[in-house]
Amino acid sequence: MPELTDAEINGLQKIGGIVGTVLQEMIQAVRSGLTTKELDLFGQSRLQFYGARSAPILSYHFPGSTCISVNEEAAHGIPGSRVIQPGDMVNIDVSAELDGFFADTGASVPIPPVLPEDQRLCDCTRAALKKAIAAARAGNPLNAIGKAVEEEAARCGYQVISALNGHGVGHSLHDEPHFIPNYFNSRDKRMLTEGMVIAIEPFLTSGNGQVVNADDGWTIRTADGKRIAQYEHSLIVTRGKPIILTVSR
Ligand code: CO
Ligand code: CO
Repeated sequence: MPELTDAEINGLQKIGGIVGTVLQEMIQAVRSGLTTKELDLFGQSRLQFYGARSAPILSYHFPGSTCISVNEEAAHGIPGSRVIQPGDMVNIDVSAELDGFFADTGASVPIPPVLPEDQRLCDCTRAALKKAIAAARAGNPLNAIGKAVEEEAARCGYQVISALNGHGVGHSLHDEPHFIPNYFNSRDKRMLTEGMVIAIEPFLTSGNGQVVNADDGWTIRTADGKRIAQYEHSLIVTRGKPIILTVSR
């Protein structure tokens, strides 16, 4: 993979800063009593304010500007009439485009009163992301990411949702390398190289980690109804610490 130009790095940092900021704004806004549609419309207005376009709409004609998945919904939840309840776990995933550059970020937000087991799941998943990011260095095998996630999940007694994975990002929402597993695969010989733009997103659960597709054609649910936590950052791989793009500014 060729190294990135300064213009590319700037473009990526710009969209990364926008999605990182909009995610934080949505985290500040989420509360019980809101519908997921109301939360999404707020996110949509913030993306528009910064001049960015929703990547799920642009890339997949997704029926929402952001993905909002509640409790047993693991990913790609469609914003709608579901009312967020006290004690719910809400996953907000924000991805967007500006000037041809894409970035992707997400976070799970426990709604008060927070159940201790939900807090623990969130803390462990955040730690898994942090360790996976630390492993994302040029010269390391790509499977070092999945190894870090899987080891942290095991340490906490959780399962990774193996059907959900990270991916390349940057010039499109889902780019090369297309599949960055959240588990270790010794047969995966791909290497991390300087200038790779990737999204790392561990999905952890206290359940068995199996998922099913909902009837709406988008939402992915846990088969056993257990909750999940996901945290996601987009970053540029370097020989040293990666450049994390999806930070709020
Ligand atoms: Co995402
Ligand atoms: Co992603």
